[in-house]
Amino acid sequence: MTTPAPSIRPIAATPATRSEIGFFGGMPIFDVPLEIVRPRFPALDTFGARFQDALRSGNVTNNGRWVLEFERQLTEYLGVPTATFCNGQTAMMAMLRAAGIAGGEVIVPAFTFSATPHAVRWCNADPVFADVLPDSMCLDPAHVERKITSKTKAILGVDVYGIACEYAELGELARRHGLKLLFDSAPAFGTRVDGRLVGGFGDAQMLSFHATKAFATMEGGCICSHNDALLKRAKAIRNFGQDPVGDCDEAGINGKLTEVCALIGIEQLKAFETAARARRRAAHRICAGLEVLPGLSLARPGSNQEPIWLYLPVVIDKCAYGLVACFSQIAGYRCLSLMRAFLVVNCQSALVWLALRSCSQVAISSMRICLLGMRRSRHWDVRTPSSDSARSSQLPCFGV
Ligand SMILES: Cc1ncc(COP(=O)(O)O)c(C=O)c1O
Repeated sequence: MTTPAPSIRPIAATPATRSEIGFFGGMPIFDVPLEIVRPRFPALDTFGARFQDALRSGNVTNNGRWVLEFERQLTEYLGVPTATFCNGQTAMMAMLRAAGIAGGEVIVPAFTFSATPHAVRWCNADPVFADVLPDSMCLDPAHVERKITSKTKAILGVDVYGIACEYAELGELARRHGLKLLFDSAPAFGTRVDGRLVGGFGDAQMLSFHATKAFATMEGGCICSHNDALLKRAKAIRNFGQDPVGDCDEAGINGKLTEVCALIGIEQLKAFETAARARRRAAHRICAGLEVLPGLSLARPGSNQEPIWLYLPVVIDKCAYGLVACFSQIAGYRCLSLMRAFLVVNCQSALVWLALRSCSQVAISSMRICLLGMRRSRHWDVRTPSSDSARSSQLPCFGV
């Protein structure tokens, strides 16, 4: 199920000086890099026979047996009716269309992955960028309210990095202004809000099962909604706009998930709770270690939620931290495996949106570093209870 952990060289007990850091020419801690959010998939023999049967029968797509079974299991697990899609982006486009977005304005965070405003544009609507809260890095409801006009049709919140946005406040705002409330929860499969898994909030939520996600089927995604009519329409859009008897009353797309992805999803579900617990344990340990370092600030989600921590964003104050942010610099601490910069940016700076800039200054204009994995270190272990240390040494990476 897992790739063998990369071997680690012995490390010094004291924090590294600049010249000892691998990035500046020192000996790297890892023989091979730990992957960024290493995709984690079931072994072929766990689902190979069922896949072979599907291949033999020729029933490999078109909402076949395993897609229907996967949807049944997702609906049960997430606690909300769920329709699968071939990827998250197609699910988001169908979700917007099924919610009636066909023009006007949709308020989105300025700080998100490009998929969010692009899906809005594919529905012939204009994205209106609102600012995010520095702590959660998600939509600021107060700023959203200032962006509402007579053209606004919906608010599309984003659960950036798997941190859920302010569902309750945005819900209240949408209700007061008669707007649809939709969520791009692509990164948030497994996040809990008030004890409930992400999926059943707002008018609809979409999730991604892309290979980089905590729950992955290679490509894939879904829409979750308690609104039967919305979900029914989304399912028709997913199938070229056809209703169950084959009539089309709108121009749909092909958004169907394949049987092999569904089979992988069924296997992933079996292991998901255990993997999510390990991921959260690792994230808590990383946060506890990092928050004592001057100049580093971590995202602070509301206390009513347990994020899945798809990534672990770290904002670096160059002056207070003393170094320009780059791969190995936190490796003064030398326990962190992999990071990536600029995973999510101020979307307005993309050429395609320059004319639509609607936030003068965005609280977080670009993410300096996303922490995506770690390996134990002695610096680290001193902060953790000894009973936990043994377990931490078995965590091959943050995502496992
Ligand atoms: C915030 C956000 N929305 C949408 C998507 C699109 O999902 P997919 O890659 O499954 O199409 C992503 C993908 O990473 C994402 O991060």
